[in-house]
Amino acid sequence: MTQYNFDEIIDRRGTDSVKWSKKHLREYFGDEDVLPLWIADMDFRVAQPIVEALTTRAQHGVFGYGYKSDEFLQAAVNWQRRRNGWEIAKEWILFTPGVIPALNVIVETFSRPGDSVIIQCPVYYPFANIITDSGRRVADNPLIHTDGKYEMNFADLERLARDSRTKLMFLCSPHNPVGRVWTAEELQRVGEICGQNDVLVVSDEIHSDLIYPPHRHIPFGKIAEDCQANAIVCTSPSKTFNLAGLHISDIIVPNDKVRTELAHRLTAVDGDPGSFGSVAQIAAYNGGEEWLAQLISYLEENLDFIEGFLKERMPRVTMTRPQATYLAWLDFSDYGLTERELQQLMRRKAKVALDDGYIFGAGGEPFQRINFACPRSTLREALERIQNALEDIR
Ligand SMILES: Cc1ncc(COP(=O)(O)O)c(C=O)c1O
Repeated sequence: MTQYNFDEIIDRRGTDSVKWSKKHLREYFGDEDVLPLWIADMDFRVAQPIVEALTTRAQHGVFGYGYKSDEFLQAAVNWQRRRNGWEIAKEWILFTPGVIPALNVIVETFSRPGDSVIIQCPVYYPFANIITDSGRRVADNPLIHTDGKYEMNFADLERLARDSRTKLMFLCSPHNPVGRVWTAEELQRVGEICGQNDVLVVSDEIHSDLIYPPHRHIPFGKIAEDCQANAIVCTSPSKTFNLAGLHISDIIVPNDKVRTELAHRLTAVDGDPGSFGSVAQIAAYNGGEEWLAQLISYLEENLDFIEGFLKERMPRVTMTRPQATYLAWLDFSDYGLTERELQQLMRRKAKVALDDGYIFGAGGEPFQRINFACPRSTLREALERIQNALEDIR
């Protein structure tokens, strides 16, 4: 068994990394020297079977057009069966070079300008951009936040779904940034409300392999037959195995009619993986589980570390432990800062690059999202910088 070392510091500068590039840090944070714990990728080296498979493929030296091979599709089918107990057919899988391209095409395919798409703020901010950029409207069904716990507002969801202009719902499952893993009861209720009102559920499950015990991810399509018929489930090995730069995602569409319509539109985006994406998905899903188990343990220890640090050294900053994802949602409300003051404090004084909570929509203003998929020493450095910056604030 390979023992992976997640404490290893790997210099990512000079590797076209958005997270670490001076250009992006200057552009987004106004300072190239901030310590980056923002955009959702990891500072860890990938599983050895993936490195080996890609190296072998590179050695072959010919990189012509590829396609969704049987092995590529079967790896995703087996993964869903093994990890989530969800039986899917190879034919249900459509390929896109990322979940974002898929969401764009889904909106274009299943709604018209002026229609509405439900999202649950505070939520992964590109959802709202995709909707508004295509001339659709955001129907926000804000999460209810009580005592640090986020829950869905079903009465409000029902009201929004009933509106005849509402055609789609983007469900973030598990939820980025609040870290909730939705229960069977919650998913069932979403399924019922959307099913009764002909609202197609697009379940973004990109973070669904990064779940902390005792929580369990339930694919939306597994909840019930009628949910399955009314679902587009977006999956990918990209967050799980740190492969975002290889642009792979598997869009699972059980309903023949919905799939045929979407597949037709997808030809405009690209319906097949690239040579490296294909090899990486096969290697990751077939041989990456040992690495993933070790990764999840390391991430849990990072969470313990954050909890301990906050308790001892920054008690006014609070965090509800995420049930999933490597993103923690830090609450700075106790300081009573405006979103601009909080942003400036992070960037100018603490010199860290985190994601400002307000970009995730209403309710996110007093929060900062920190990506803790990094060596513990980097995490410690970031938290110490924040602690120092907060020192003289009342
Ligand atoms: C919920 C969610 N969906 C989609 C994406 C991006 O997906 P992709 O890189 O496959 O377009 C992210 C990335 O952070 C995410 O958090």
